[in-house]
Amino acid sequence: MSDPAPPGLADGPVYLDYNATTPIDPRVLDALLPYLRTDFGNPSSSHVYGEAPHAALDTARTRVADLLGARPGEIVFTGSGSESNLLALQGVMVARGQRAHLIAQVTEHPSVLQTCRALERLHGVRVTLLPVSSDGHVDPDALAAAIGDDTALVSIMVANNETGVLQPIQELAAIAHRHGALFHCDAAQAAGKIALDVDTLGVDLLTVVGHKMYAPKGIAALYVRTGVELEPVVHGGGQEHGLRAGTENVAFAVALGAAAELAAADLTDGTVHRIARLRDELHRKLTEALPCRLHLNGAAEARLPNTLNISIDGCLGHEMLAAASEIAASTGSACHSGTHTPSPVLTAMGIPEQRAMATVRLSLGRWTTLRDIETATAALTKVVAT
Ligand SMILES: Cc1ncc(COP(=O)(O)O)c(C=O)c1O
Repeated sequence: MSDPAPPGLADGPVYLDYNATTPIDPRVLDALLPYLRTDFGNPSSSHVYGEAPHAALDTARTRVADLLGARPGEIVFTGSGSESNLLALQGVMVARGQRAHLIAQVTEHPSVLQTCRALERLHGVRVTLLPVSSDGHVDPDALAAAIGDDTALVSIMVANNETGVLQPIQELAAIAHRHGALFHCDAAQAAGKIALDVDTLGVDLLTVVGHKMYAPKGIAALYVRTGVELEPVVHGGGQEHGLRAGTENVAFAVALGAAAELAAADLTDGTVHRIARLRDELHRKLTEALPCRLHLNGAAEARLPNTLNISIDGCLGHEMLAAASEIAASTGSACHSGTHTPSPVLTAMGIPEQRAMATVRLSLGRWTTLRDIETATAALTKVVAT
């Protein structure tokens, strides 16, 4: 296991919410601090103070590109995953004004779904949201049926944040290209958890997010394939290849670069397999402790290695987690002013309300241990029994 663990995990409950956000890896923190403490210069300055930040930005861009099999010049740093998704969707739809159709799917993150709604409202874009099957998958035939000559862009996530379900991106991107459309995927949850190569996937645009891979919140990137034209969302000084103006956040870009390098190591040094084994052990132990009451939500196989989304018959997810104070995890419901409603992702998969409300999402990460799994099993079993 990676050493050392971040101090933030030391005394709290067992953290099983890595899909919500990850702690900053201490090695990432060490990498970024010099660009806050000493190397403060503007990377665009031609004097000596600009040199180290400029070089660090280049290195960070190369590291992010390497994680994705991309070229450094194809990486645009942004301020969040939401912003990367906005730049991809709005950037394409405004640049390709003649083609007014955009296709996404119902279980996308709100940053994609709400951008679709805004594009409809503000730019007259026609949006089609594809449905998903009961295990969370988009059917490639449904994309083939919905796509037309006026489709500019198809945006489908690699992995769902709630269920971890993986979409057949290669097949979907090939369909988009056959019709002259571009393909974007939101890989916020997938980057660092599964191998991603933009050429193998055949994608034109891809979002990665720092705070899902042990870098700070407030840094992300968009991969933009060479030759793809985007209308910028932030106009100004020409930074980030003219696609995202604003003096670069060098320290956080360095953090994302360092995180990308560590993520690449996780994929080859057995870390990801270790996490998958712990996740499966957690599932096995809970199934054994709660016979006939546990349901897995989403595909069992085509799934992120760290995510376990389960419903437990006869329970309410938010009550279970409130009572199981030994662990920190997420429910499958949203809470608005004290009222709990089932997750739209689970609802879109056709999961009945009662089962959706009985859901917890347990997401593991770099510092999860077998002991954590035992604690979580005991805590959930205890609250279900009472
Ligand atoms: C799949 C997915 N896309 C996009 C985002 C948005 O990232 P950010 O919080 O950096 O805007 C998230 C974060 O929850 C996510 O899970």
